[in-house]
Amino acid sequence: MTMQELMKTVIRHVPARVLPGTEPQQLDGRRTHIGAATPRLDGPLKVQGKARFAAEVALDGLLYACIVHSTIARGRITVLGTSAAEAAPGVVQVMTYRNAPRMKTPGAFGEGDEVAGSALPVMQDERIHWNGEAVAVVLAQTQEQADFAAGRVQVEYALAADAVTDFQQAKQHAHHPDTVLGESTVVDKGDAHAALAKAPFKVDQRYSTPRHNHNAIELHAVTVHWDQGTLVVHDATQMLNGTAKTLAKVFDLKPEQVRVLSPFVGGGFGGKGLWTPQMLAAAAARLVGRPVRLTLTREGVFRLIGGRTLTEQRVALGANADGTLTALIHTGVVAMTAHNNVPEQFTFPARHLYAADNFYLEQQVAEMDMLANTYMRAPGESVGTFALESALDELAEQLQLDPIELRRRIEPDKDPTSGSAFSSRHLLKAYADGARAFGWDQRSPTPRARRDGEWLIGMGVATATYPYYRMPGSAARVRIDADGSATVSTAGHEMGMGTATVQAQHAADRLGLALEQVAFEYGDTSLPAGAMAGGSSQTAGTLAAVEAASQALVKALLKLAPKDSPLHGLKPDQVELRDGGLAGVDRDDAYESFVDLLRGAGQAHVEAEASAPPPMEMMKYSMHSYGAQFCEVRVSEVTGEVRVSRFLGSFDTGRILNPQTAASQFRGGIVMGLGLALSEDTWFDPRTGRIMNPTMAEYHVPVQLDVPRIEIMWTDAPDPHSPLGAHGVGEIGITGTAAAVANAIYNATGKRIRDLPITLDKLL
Ligand code: MOS
Repeated sequence: MTMQELMKTVIRHVPARVLPGTEPQQLDGRRTHIGAATPRLDGPLKVQGKARFAAEVALDGLLYACIVHSTIARGRITVLGTSAAEAAPGVVQVMTYRNAPRMKTPGAFGEGDEVAGSALPVMQDERIHWNGEAVAVVLAQTQEQADFAAGRVQVEYALAADAVTDFQQAKQHAHHPDTVLGESTVVDKGDAHAALAKAPFKVDQRYSTPRHNHNAIELHAVTVHWDQGTLVVHDATQMLNGTAKTLAKVFDLKPEQVRVLSPFVGGGFGGKGLWTPQMLAAAAARLVGRPVRLTLTREGVFRLIGGRTLTEQRVALGANADGTLTALIHTGVVAMTAHNNVPEQFTFPARHLYAADNFYLEQQVAEMDMLANTYMRAPGESVGTFALESALDELAEQLQLDPIELRRRIEPDKDPTSGSAFSSRHLLKAYADGARAFGWDQRSPTPRARRDGEWLIGMGVATATYPYYRMPGSAARVRIDADGSATVSTAGHEMGMGTATVQAQHAADRLGLALEQVAFEYGDTSLPAGAMAGGSSQTAGTLAAVEAASQALVKALLKLAPKDSPLHGLKPDQVELRDGGLAGVDRDDAYESFVDLLRGAGQAHVEAEASAPPPMEMMKYSMHSYGAQFCEVRVSEVTGEVRVSRFLGSFDTGRILNPQTAASQFRGGIVMGLGLALSEDTWFDPRTGRIMNPTMAEYHVPVQLDVPRIEIMWTDAPDPHSPLGAHGVGEIGITGTAAAVANAIYNATGKRIRDLPITLDKLL
């Protein structure tokens, strides 16, 4: 089942019910590793340079690839000259649509179980679909030779007369997407427009956010070879199984004929999915019959890997004098293509966050000829909270209410649009704890009240929110060896967030072993199909699969118990895993260690595999991560320069499984949010559809000096309905951050900037 199908099934109009036995075991009284600040287990490998990334896999006879990119938005190739490139030193082959192997068109993410960035054919004919699309792949003995020869490929084009590269023009044909991640594109509850017209207090504003591109430290890279009809792909991916399935379809292979390995990913954020490079590299390797490595340049990442699309949003709030909302309207339009399914769910926060009498929420898309946009850390929520939380700040000022007090007055007792109960929600506690720690009482409600020489100082706050997702279909295997050690296996992903560490902690507690006795195997499609690393859902999905496999292991172990064992004759629900063995529930006398059970049975190992139960918790409850973001800025009255001087994130994301890796996730999200607020901006030329700043020199992400000390705290309140009580922590940090910064800038300067990024020219 795909995410889209899941959302369709789960989110709307499903009778609330919970199947018996689906409430997860919380390991109460047995959590010794879970909750400990365990340093990442893959850390030593990485700092020693021993972790081998996709671009570092050594293969005999390897060829290096360089891509030639189109320079028109849409149209066709009229001249394609490869002879000068073919004659260049070291060149083995130049692949173009003329000689590329025939490939089927991949399915875009959200269609079936395929996961390509877009549903476009890859180098199959002379057609061009976006400015930057690959038109040739040069293969040479060295990377330098390939790069040199790529400049000698001669291409001329005929531009389609009706190519759409101007958003203002595209907007004239804006329309509803079929769904927004399986949810309805319009939520119309009561009569929000009439309520707004009658409201004694109102805010009605427009907000815009620009395009953003993915800039993970690790460039997208793939090393591929064909091994007797099997395609072996060393990739950096956050969707192993989907990548393998899609590649199998594209190359007309059986699923078992594709193996994808991805032991390390140097940052994903939604960008490390299946794009054209993996398909081109596999095609090139097939064409020349040799292994191929394709490492994108930084510019190549901008041209071939989608990023976050732009948004234009309207938020209108109608309120009574006491702050209660009579109307909540959040609408807008984003740029998209005709061949992908990512409408940037910016209305999602407004669907679940605050009580209001009437709602009108609506999303539209405007199709453009451009590289397909994609998921980028908290797609929707990151930019949606910028608009919603900025508008609330404006309303609070109008009502002469503290912004936190306003949020207290609109705290809902159940999900305001679905009507479902919240599984776990402690947003107001996160606000209260954060306000105390940050010194919120030092803030003056009056803008421009604090200064230090030329620097105006202000404080702002905003809500962070991100849904809890658990995708169906993840499986795991647990194996116990004769020495009592365990290996837990699933095709999961470590992109730097701590997956390998947290899952080893879980397995150790689940089995009653020391951390050193547990190995967590992941990053390989030859393992049981795992959870995708997306939607901040991998941890919950993997925990549930490992819990299921452990229950299966109990049955397998019980069969090993000899006749004279105190365990003999007990039923599976009368025994449990404990202290590195199998034990009777509430019975101290009935216990056999794994070592004894295996020795007694004369077996070298025992193993069990199982799939996680379907995510019924999402059917019954409205489940989200929350946070309160506090920001202090200093703005130069002379230059308009903004320095974020202090930041605190106070989060409510269920139980924290590893304080060290979780804090890094929160902090990293906030850092990315500072970029969203102040600097990140992909310049898209409306005349040509060409990205004008495809380099980190001109596309600015926050660097050390842009980032102050960031304090992180959390409620640590477990959700009784999620595996181990945890919620996702990967994406929540970026949400709310841009609004907290913008609100702080307003408090400092009296200037309300509603268009991101807030660059100094907007403050002069
Ligand atoms: Mo995320 S944008 O689901 O990696």
